[in-house]
Amino acid sequence: MNILVTGGAGFIGSHTVVELQNAGHEVVVVDNLCNASEKSLQRVAQITGKQVPFYPVDIRDRAGLEQVMEQYRFDCCIHFAGLKAVGESVGMPLEYYDNNIGGTLTLLDVMRQHGCKNIIFSSSATVYGDPAEIPITEACPKGQCTNPYGQTKTMIEQIMMDLQKADPAWNIVLLRYFNPIGAHQSGLIGENPRGIPNNLMPYITQVAVGKRPQLGVFGGDYDTPDGTCIRDYIHVVDLAVGHVKALQAIERGCGLAIYNLGTGKGCSVLEVIHAFETATGVKIPYVVQGRRAGDIPAMYSDPGKAERELGWKAQYGMEEMCRDSWNWQRKNPNGFED
Ligand code: NAD
Ligand code: WQD
Repeated sequence: MNILVTGGAGFIGSHTVVELQNAGHEVVVVDNLCNASEKSLQRVAQITGKQVPFYPVDIRDRAGLEQVMEQYRFDCCIHFAGLKAVGESVGMPLEYYDNNIGGTLTLLDVMRQHGCKNIIFSSSATVYGDPAEIPITEACPKGQCTNPYGQTKTMIEQIMMDLQKADPAWNIVLLRYFNPIGAHQSGLIGENPRGIPNNLMPYITQVAVGKRPQLGVFGGDYDTPDGTCIRDYIHVVDLAVGHVKALQAIERGCGLAIYNLGTGKGCSVLEVIHAFETATGVKIPYVVQGRRAGDIPAMYSDPGKAERELGWKAQYGMEEMCRDSWNWQRKNPNGFED
């Protein structure tokens, strides 16, 4: 298929471009590089042996998007572009709503005008809020998001559902990611956070590489077996493959389809630290601190629907996730800046 990938220079996007190209799809990337480097796409080309046509376009730029859409005939769009820092979104709600929602509205409208009505969207487990039950199935009611970032995911899902209802010619797949970590096994691409990492694994790898003295563990008094929060960490390559599989749903005319992408296994913060130490042999000094506002004690997926309907199942475990995160960080201590 001919696929437009928005945000394709970013962490999950770049890994997905690799899997799409390896599966024989033709890919074009648009990205405004606000949280990425074009070098990631050069590295993708190194991995796959295929160039990645790239346009430095902001998805809010209608004319820019139109130019790209006129040049190619896309069968589907995979839409990663968006701002994603939960804490930052609390202080910059307008920027988050404008970028994520405004950008998506423009993208959908331009797609419609050009007759492309197939889209796969990067949603998030954050839409479940504090889940009513775990493991979380797609039937679990959506919950209250405590921050503007999460609200944008909930609202975009609603916009896409309304659109599909109004015009059944659209095929829309909402993929609710759990916690993506890891990196491509080559160590050529990976997560490249700007400044102090917000997320657990990039923080751990920066401690491991000596950029930060120790990890702060946010809360040791949760009602979980070891007192720290439980998440469903998923290897980014598994996640990327999930997008290739989701194209099957588009091809068979799914209308609206929603899938969790997780492993189904919960892992506590302390278990992640210990798994990292075992997988890499590097000790991670840490100190247990107070809780971080807004954190949910425990959440992990029931990924069964994606397995039944798409034939997708996560292949990698925590050991590989740690090994590959470390391989990327070790080889690229300053991300793509070297
Ligand atoms: P990322 O920041 O690495 O990738 C997002 C990309 O979008 C970046 O390359 C950025 O430059 C680009 N971008 C942002 N705004 C843009 C705009 N207006 N126009 C064009 N490009 C723009 O983040 P990621 O971790 O790869 O996340 C990809 C998507 O998955 C995001 O929508 C994110 O919200 C979603 N998601 C991520 C996680 C996670 O933990 N990483 C979890 C659930 C969902
Ligand atoms: C994981 C665990 C922290 C950093 C976020 C977004 C979510 C989704 C995925 C996009 C938690 C603990 C973390 C640290 C720590 N993104 N932690 N010390 O919060 O589950 O999910 O990313 O959609 O919307 O909220 O991921 O990696 O930040 O935290 O102890 O320095 O690690 O408290 O228990 P989270 P995370």
